[in-house]
Amino acid sequence: MVTFDRHRRLRSSVAMRDLVRENHLDKDDLIMPVFVDATIKDREEIKSMPGVFRYSLDSILDEIKTIVDLGVKSIIIFGIPDHKDDVGSGAWEDDGIVQQAIRKIKKAYPDLIVIADTCMCEYTSTGHCGIVKDHKVLNDESLVYLTDTAVSQVKAGADIIAPSNAMDGFVAAIREGLDKNGFKETPIMSYSVKYASSFYGPFRDAADGAPKFGDRKGYQMDPANRLEALREVASDEKEGADFVMVKPAMAFLDVMRDVRDRTNLPLVAYNVSGEYAMIKAAAQNGWINEDQIVKETLVGMKRAGADLIITYFAKDAAKRMNEQR
Ligand code: PBG
Ligand code: ZN
Repeated sequence: MVTFDRHRRLRSSVAMRDLVRENHLDKDDLIMPVFVDATIKDREEIKSMPGVFRYSLDSILDEIKTIVDLGVKSIIIFGIPDHKDDVGSGAWEDDGIVQQAIRKIKKAYPDLIVIADTCMCEYTSTGHCGIVKDHKVLNDESLVYLTDTAVSQVKAGADIIAPSNAMDGFVAAIREGLDKNGFKETPIMSYSVKYASSFYGPFRDAADGAPKFGDRKGYQMDPANRLEALREVASDEKEGADFVMVKPAMAFLDVMRDVRDRTNLPLVAYNVSGEYAMIKAAAQNGWINEDQIVKETLVGMKRAGADLIITYFAKDAAKRMNEQR
């Protein structure tokens, strides 16, 4: 008889499978996105992201309490300002919506890690991630405003700066700005590998940051490219990034693995809005088992090499883990 291997020996029971499991999802890995909106009084559900809300300054602490009580230890915060202009002033003002929210959150929950997304698309009248002149997104001019934004966010109490603007040199510029202002100890979580993706569709509803003309292909990456991701990571490492990220996650897990094999920095997966919306929609139709699919999706990101996962499922996943104990 032809001999063969008995792989099923290690799958024979729950305990045996638990014993040999290679990758684990941990609550410590999860980062929950939070939207704070200067234009509303209470909270408002995001239509394309059932179960995810925008919060007013008045209602934000209720959401933070829920997150903290579930055992999630970090959030990433996005703001929707009450005014938009050419220079995105709402992004870097000391009393901007994100700055006010960070102060409030850190006062109530000093141990929660608050990560600030540093970008301009929610704040510029063009909806682009930088300063626009003659329908062009200017790189170096944008860096000045992005640096001001990062500094104001750290002044307000942000623990980590996460620049998502996809300009060249943003890590170097922000690092220099933070250092000059006495914030040498504040880490930068760079959206190093950020693809120009349609998976961000629901986020643009959520944060009201869709570009008013054109698209983001002149600054975000082409989904067809793999080596370019490694060049982006190399630049960010040289410029002083403390974390690197791959975004979106699900359609880019090969890139996650490539980056994992080449960097010694903590690697973040961003499980983006469109990925959330697809799973929610199918689950609401009763077509898939949401809990199981979420578990499989998130552990897949870990298997691909992610250390941390930014996910709109963070609360749900934490809840499931708590119930299992
Ligand atoms: C801002 C930003 C975006 C996301 C995170 N920060 C949108 C974009 O670049 O168009 C996407 C997050 C998501 O889809 O969940 N630049
Ligand atoms: Zn942006």
